Amino acid sequence: MVKIAVLGFGTVGSGVVEVLRKNSQSISRKAGDVIDIKYILDIRDFPDSPERHLLTKDIDAILDDDEVSIVVEVMGGIEPAYSYTKRALLSGKHVVTSNKELVATYGAELLAIAKEKNINYLFEASVGGGIPIIRPLNQCLAANEITEIVGILNGTTNYILTQMIKEGKSFEEALHDAQEKGYAERNPEADVEGYDACRKIAILSSLAFGYQVDAERIHTEGITKISMEDVEYADHMECVIKLLAVSRKMGDKIFARVSPVIIPKSHSLAGVEDVFNGILVRGDAIGDVMFYGRGAGKFPTASAVVADIIDIVRNIDRNSRVIWTKSEQDLMVDIGETKCSYFVRIKTDDKPAVINVISRVFGSCNFVSIANPKTADEVAFVTPPRKEKELSVALNSINNMPFVNAVYNVIRVEKE
Ligand code: HSE
Repeated sequence: MVKIAVLGFGTVGSGVVEVLRKNSQSISRKAGDVIDIKYILDIRDFPDSPERHLLTKDIDAILDDDEVSIVVEVMGGIEPAYSYTKRALLSGKHVVTSNKELVATYGAELLAIAKEKNINYLFEASVGGGIPIIRPLNQCLAANEITEIVGILNGTTNYILTQMIKEGKSFEEALHDAQEKGYAERNPEADVEGYDACRKIAILSSLAFGYQVDAERIHTEGITKISMEDVEYADHMECVIKLLAVSRKMGDKIFARVSPVIIPKSHSLAGVEDVFNGILVRGDAIGDVMFYGRGAGKFPTASAVVADIIDIVRNIDRNSRVIWTKSEQDLMVDIGETKCSYFVRIKTDDKPAVINVISRVFGSCNFVSIANPKTADEVAFVTPPRKEKELSVALNSINNMPFVNAVYNVIRVEKE
């Protein structure tokens, strides 16, 4: 019998316990041993829970208990999750987590301790909810040099954008729905400002390229500036707006970014809707592989956590090798050096003057207009590919021209 402790009895923690109870027989058969929940740690009381006899507030009792061989950390946040995880690993207990913030920040250090102790730190649930992506990257695609990862990695923002596009719902209404359904983070700013997707692409990049990619070094924009008019313009261009997390190998360096991007409706990620996540991985031997599934929610996330527990029970005596170390050199490419096309909206009283300036500054642009009267006083266009630093300079100078009232919004455009 393998005894485990679950740290955190929130949405994911209660889902993990429920899945372990509901599928206990088949899980034991697959794991080759019985998995027994000995403790559930939470600062709250759950007097009506059928699991109340397992609930404790005493972390020391868990970490000092030699019978516990696997700790499941589903608390979220950095502290106390970091301290508990480190202590658990140092005392020789395997750890399974769904905590993307912790993995993105301390992945290299915690994996090094696990290796040293010949145990495992597994985090399949930290990216893509229930979608298998960590294990495929680490094992099934190990023969490849990964050249690019492009993903819709946040279920909440994908749900909001889909509701805006398909149902014409407002941003606030759609966010409220996502919170009700249990998709959103405790502080939904992490979803809508792109921080959650940023942590997830930091994890995938670190795994794919073998070196720690710090989330703070990733250029990150959320979806709060996206309006219904932007959605309409995109639709008019036979495109949709998605919050994309991108990570690319550029020579010996790595480029990563999270931002809204206008992509054609024919793009393989355009049809990824609602709370679903989609991750496109490009490898030199395999070409393109797509991963698709529910990226958030109680049971999809619990499914990935329980799979990691089963994996550990099967391999209780050995460390599965994960290459993810800190690099001595700065590996990150500056976003200013990367090239892209941009969709730009400019508010003006003198459209011919703006059109004239735009063509001089950017060369031949594609102008777009929609029937919405709210956009009557603006010029909207898509630029040819330009470096980000050139775009900033150009937009600054355009913004200072007397006939330009404001640059409304700028959204990156990707053809493939
Ligand atoms: N808030 C996250 C999302 C949960 O919406 O994708 C899963 O990490």
